[in-house]
Amino acid sequence: MGIQITPSMLASDFANLESEAARISSADWLHMDVMDNHFVPNLTLGAPVIEALAKVAKQPIDAHLMIEDPDRWAPAYVEAGAQSVTFHVEAAKAPVRLAREIRAKGARASMALKPATPIEPYEDLLPELDMVLVMTVEPGFGGQKFLDICLPKIQRARTLIDKHGGDIWLQVDGGVSLETIERCAEAGADTFVAGSAVFSADDPDAMVAELRSHAGR
Ligand code: DX5
Ligand code: ZN
Repeated sequence: MGIQITPSMLASDFANLESEAARISSADWLHMDVMDNHFVPNLTLGAPVIEALAKVAKQPIDAHLMIEDPDRWAPAYVEAGAQSVTFHVEAAKAPVRLAREIRAKGARASMALKPATPIEPYEDLLPELDMVLVMTVEPGFGGQKFLDICLPKIQRARTLIDKHGGDIWLQVDGGVSLETIERCAEAGADTFVAGSAVFSADDPDAMVAELRSHAGR
């Protein structure tokens, strides 16, 4: 598996999600940030919006659930058409059961870690997962500054993933741009979420290509 660029639709025009997705036709995935005003202090969108976009978008949908009680709500996002569903391990009550349920329903299961959450306590969970998301900002808003303190955790996550073998993707999300993506790639990330960097560019699809080449190792 090579480099994957996953633009965050949070930075796109919510009134025109279909045409915004079409502006980034070379993107590998569409990252959809679900926020519930409880796990994070912001409210965005839910399963009905993902279901609508999944019907018209060419790219598969990567749902990032920044919500309380993902055990209860995550399966609905698979049913809505998301092909990858990420829950925050800080919010999950039974992450093993939840990851298995997401996979059983047919999507990739992924665990996210906030900046201050270590990966080591969750090492034994890796065989249950298709992806680990290391947040490089505090979740809740786009356009925040990249947190360098998360780079060592990306490296440690890479080491643990390599130790376990298997095809587990390592995603970074938050403040990813032409200035920061190389450091993330060097630390071992292979899947890159970028919101404001992509959608503030004059040509978002050209920015996807530029990010991809900067991440190339
Ligand atoms: C933040 C979200 C991110 C956000 C990234 O909580 O999870 O996906 O959209 O936006 P940028 O790339 O602008 O930091
Ligand atoms: Zn996100």
